[in-house]
Amino acid sequence: MSITVSAPGKLMLMGEHAVVFGKPSIVTAVDHRMYATLDAFPEPKIILEAPEVGLDFYEKNLNELGQGIVPKEASFVEHSVKNFVAKYPISAGVKITTKAGFSSKFGFGSSSAVTVCITKGLSEMFGLNLSNQEIFELSYKTVIDVQGKGSGFDIAAAVWGGTILFQNKGEIVEPLNIPGFDLAVGYTGKKYETVKVLDEVKMVEAEFPDVIAGTYNNIAILVEKALDLIKSGQPNILPKLGQLMNFNQGQLDTLGVNCLELSEIIYAARNAGAYGAKLSGAGKGDCAVCLVDGFNKMQVADGIRNQGYEVIDIVVNAPGARVEM
Ligand code: PMV
Repeated sequence: MSITVSAPGKLMLMGEHAVVFGKPSIVTAVDHRMYATLDAFPEPKIILEAPEVGLDFYEKNLNELGQGIVPKEASFVEHSVKNFVAKYPISAGVKITTKAGFSSKFGFGSSSAVTVCITKGLSEMFGLNLSNQEIFELSYKTVIDVQGKGSGFDIAAAVWGGTILFQNKGEIVEPLNIPGFDLAVGYTGKKYETVKVLDEVKMVEAEFPDVIAGTYNNIAILVEKALDLIKSGQPNILPKLGQLMNFNQGQLDTLGVNCLELSEIIYAARNAGAYGAKLSGAGKGDCAVCLVDGFNKMQVADGIRNQGYEVIDIVVNAPGARVEM
């Protein structure tokens, strides 16, 4: 029996960093997907082939998962299977082959998407038909086991897809409809580890606790205002939503997670007519999201390219994790 599951990457429209502390965020799934093919294996072990991360062959007995040396490239898959087996004991082995539809350098959440693929794949393979909520919870546990921190918003985007309000470690996941919105995405060309950025913000917070608490509160207020706007049913909300994204970017600058490349993309996009623009995710690298619609997307993308940055073509509101036929 062979089954292939895919899950989308994500971009954060508003609310990163504050979301780690239970505040609301707005995230959209993008049409760049991760894939995992699962085949039954006769012995009780996992076999992993993940060529896109340079892992040609890896194996581990089911009863030794998470023990001994776990190579970085195998950690999300191995812990996904470990957590699944701990909750739903299975005796059969599984061969897993992963395939990346996007590079891990963009900050689209490749590890979270792979984790969701494995959890959903095992659920399907063993006929458990776990709900989205159950897949979210198991996958989120895996991410915390591997990297120690994170809000889980990227897992939720990979599971549910679309554009969602995400809050409080997945206690609130609500689909959102933002009429007519699209994103021009500029890539800084550099990557900064999320956990490292979080640690740096923690150091700023230790020195200026009241400032940073205020910043998280401001971010929450901005996201709430964006949610009111999205749910208002008013026509043409993009200019106002863009303004709120720009304010959000100012708060992220206060946290110290902006960088020159992000600012250059953001200003190039705004000058080219984007409704708003800000960084997406942890910051200090990865991508900037620039709010556009069908009319100004090309012009904003050109503005980013003319500034010397790569534009990554994406479609927003991508479907969540699914079995591929
Ligand atoms: O850099 P990314 O794509 O992993 O996004 C991190 C977003 C944070 O809010 C900073 C952390 C989190 O887990 O929500």
